[in-house]
Amino acid sequence: MKVLVLNGPNLGRLGRRQPEIYGSTTHDELAARCVAWGRERGQEVEVRQTNHEGQMIDWLNAAADDAVPVVLNAAAWTHYSYALYDACAQLEAPLVEVHISEPKQRPEEFRHTSLVTPHAATVIAGRGVDGYRDALAFLAG
Ligand code: DQA
Repeated sequence: MKVLVLNGPNLGRLGRRQPEIYGSTTHDELAARCVAWGRERGQEVEVRQTNHEGQMIDWLNAAADDAVPVVLNAAAWTHYSYALYDACAQLEAPLVEVHISEPKQRPEEFRHTSLVTPHAATVIAGRGVDGYRDALAFLAG
């Protein structure tokens, strides 16, 4: 089974970005772990990251066309992007929403809303980068 792991803005700086919140694992390390975790379960995992909303929408539209399951950390877009909401609504295969931190426990009010959750089969948040492993395990059933 193919699985797409899609990471949104500022996640390319994982490891250097506010490590007290997001930890010390870099995006490259996260990507390698996701591929390895997937391989253990017979999943062919591809990890992508973009800071460009249109790129993310194009990837989600292609995932809808191909009915590919998606693990999505939409980062800040989670909280305000209706384009992302619409793109997630079109997905045919399961969508798992992932956050490294627990946005609902953070002080900024804007993080308490998710436009991804209405379309997600499950939400995994606050488990650090291990949340991606849990998301892949969920999709493996
Ligand atoms: C995040 C949480 C979001 O609120 C934030 O904008 C991010 C990362 C997380 O993985 O914890 O960029 O999605």
